[in-house]
Amino acid sequence: MKYSVLTQDAYKQKTDCLILGIPEGKSLPKSLTDLDGSLDGLLKGLFAAGDISSNTGEVSWVHTPDKPAKRLLFVGLGKSKELDAAKTRKAISAVMSALAKSSAGNAVSTLSEYASKSFPNDRIVEHSILALENALYKFDQLKSEKAKPGKLKQLKLTGTKADSEAVTKATAIAKGVALTKDLGNLPGNICTPEYLATQAKDMAKSYKSVKTTVLDEKKMKELGMGSLLSVAAGSAEPPRLITIEYKGADSKQKPHVLVGKGITFDTGGISLKPGQSMDEMKYDMCGAASVFGTLTALAEMNAPINVVGVVAAAENMPGGKATKPGDIVTSMSGQTIEILNTDAEGRLVLCDALTYCEKFNPQTVVDIATLTGACIIALGNETTGLMANDEKLAQEILAAGQASGDRAWQLPLWDEYQSALDSNFADMQNIGDRAAGTITAACFLSRFTKKYRWAHLDIAGVAWTSGKAKGASGRPVPMLTEYLLNKL
Ligand code: BES
Ligand code: MN
Ligand code: ZN
Repeated sequence: MKYSVLTQDAYKQKTDCLILGIPEGKSLPKSLTDLDGSLDGLLKGLFAAGDISSNTGEVSWVHTPDKPAKRLLFVGLGKSKELDAAKTRKAISAVMSALAKSSAGNAVSTLSEYASKSFPNDRIVEHSILALENALYKFDQLKSEKAKPGKLKQLKLTGTKADSEAVTKATAIAKGVALTKDLGNLPGNICTPEYLATQAKDMAKSYKSVKTTVLDEKKMKELGMGSLLSVAAGSAEPPRLITIEYKGADSKQKPHVLVGKGITFDTGGISLKPGQSMDEMKYDMCGAASVFGTLTALAEMNAPINVVGVVAAAENMPGGKATKPGDIVTSMSGQTIEILNTDAEGRLVLCDALTYCEKFNPQTVVDIATLTGACIIALGNETTGLMANDEKLAQEILAAGQASGDRAWQLPLWDEYQSALDSNFADMQNIGDRAAGTITAACFLSRFTKKYRWAHLDIAGVAWTSGKAKGASGRPVPMLTEYLLNKL
């Protein structure tokens, strides 16, 4: 898809599809008067009859052979006074899915007319591109019959020259999102820890600014990563600790580190999960996938920043050599852990990855993990759970979520919750009781992040969609990229 900013008059463009916003009102918006004049008042009539809807996110097609466009695609914007970022995003998403399904080969969007202080045109451009790429995304690499390539080849978005930066940014993020989705959608028999390692090496081949190192079991043993290794013990797939270094700035600049949970399949281990929907546990590496996606986005746009991605990749299986409830392991930090539930494995791989991060002397560390079912109970599938040991960092991430529309909500990480992890036999146990499961999981991680500013993102709810539209979402790549770009 080719995207560009259109600085000329959109109403004079020859196009297959002209996209127009339609706010609620007694009559057509003024911007459409000239257009309607050339159509002999057709639009006024359709609007009056209710055939062009102004309800937020409702689309209406009007065919007007080459006057000036082959078709007009209207999207309702609701009451213009209430047109905020959320409503604008909803309308843009709806109109871009309609466009993706249409037979138009090219389109022009005039939605810059509805830019405001709270949602300026660079955001409109950015969200239009991400929404269209989302709508066009297909995962058919494992189907024998591939989808036909779509007709749509080009989208022009009205704006000023300055908005072309938003085009560059959004196309880079879209590429990262698509990679994150692909990795998430791949099944556990293909997307193994070794597959993720190969993926990281491929990234280093594609981008000069990227360097990849992969640690195998032997190396992890030497480093004392007893916790990470205990998760992989029951699996025939060997674990991998993958480091992807993106260098966009001077070497003197301390890096930001992203740590991803990369459980390529989570059966629960000996604390076996119920069979219902267990297939969805192939998405348990979506934190890792979002690290790949974010680094891809940064490398694509040549962002002048240093970011290190660390992925803790393992498969959680039962088996003769698998870790058992009650087993005690020693983490790389030296702290001992009593594993009461082998299904709380995410924190066990992350804690060693978080200790490993210290060697990068990081400015900040953010881990991303499909960590707890409890997070889905607390926040549903809309919102990422955020916990941090540094309030400024937490606020920066929340702001990046707001700005990108890929939002998070903070939960408390107060000391009072820590006692849930007291163990009779080791320095800590790996689970609390049923209460505050998302927070006690973060409490566990916080014991390994004392040496730097750290935030934890629980993406169990947002990383994928269940049901008929089952698939990875590509979140929170937009939020993470926004957060890192704000550092520039
Ligand atoms: N990967 C799961 C968390 C999860 C559950 C993600 C459902 C997405 C959907 C994680 O490894 C897990 O099993 N967590 C347990 C923790 C419990 C044993 C303390 C959970 O949430 O039940
Ligand atoms: Mn688990
Ligand atoms: Zn898991």
